Amino acid sequence: MRLPLIAGNWKMNTTVGEAVELVRQISKGLSGAYDVEVLVCPPFVSLAAVKEALRKTSIKLGAQNVHSEDKGAYTGEISPLMLAGLCEYVIVGHSERRQYFGDTDDIVNRKVGAALRAGLKPVMCVGESLEENEAGRTGEVVTRQVKAGLAGLDCSGSLVVAYEPVWAIGTGKAAHGKQVNDTARLIRETLAELYGQEVAADIRILYGGSVTADNIAEFMEQSEIDGALVGGASLKADQFTSIVRQTEEIFFPNNPPTKDLIPW
Ligand code: PGA
Repeated sequence: MRLPLIAGNWKMNTTVGEAVELVRQISKGLSGAYDVEVLVCPPFVSLAAVKEALRKTSIKLGAQNVHSEDKGAYTGEISPLMLAGLCEYVIVGHSERRQYFGDTDDIVNRKVGAALRAGLKPVMCVGESLEENEAGRTGEVVTRQVKAGLAGLDCSGSLVVAYEPVWAIGTGKAAHGKQVNDTARLIRETLAELYGQEVAADIRILYGGSVTADNIAEFMEQSEIDGALVGGASLKADQFTSIVRQTEEIFFPNNPPTKDLIPW
């Protein structure tokens, strides 16, 4: 069974002090223990401080981007070797990177490869634009992005794919659970073509795009969706913790409400 993953993408928000405070509130709100993997992705400059603040919890840490080279004359960039040991996950190919910073499928492929080589777990984002969606091209676009992003790479065990329709990100207009499930199934079929059924069955596929505490259940009830990549709502501790708790209730309805297996 795939362990559900709720990831917060804080984007370019929070100072170092605010990041530490937010993660304190989140861990307080999640006291007890959860079978859901929880991940926060603050800005680069806060990674070290947030790592320290999370020391006694099981909340995981991730970065929002990475460069494809290990070192060199790339002023302002952060390499996978700098992130290794600091965090466990890294978001790659987010649509805002593709849209504003020129991350092409080829660059995404190199970044995913670099992350894997450094022992980081990539959360590779794919998703169609509004135009592509309206033209009925969602399947074609997402399949291309998955194949191109993973070309030549062996990802078994460490890959997470986030399906984030561009038109649903930050707009308050989330996609529909059933549609997302169909696209997630297509992504899994594409992963099976690349890596075989068994490996594909273990790769987690998240939904992202205007996820809130009010609509999370609709997505988590779908068979092919294994969690969420949450932007805006991950900046509010009460929203984010509610998203985690609801996910746990949906995936593990028979669990006792509090367990002591995983200390927070
Ligand atoms: P949103 O962002 O939840 O604010 O729509 C999601 C994302 O960009 O990962």
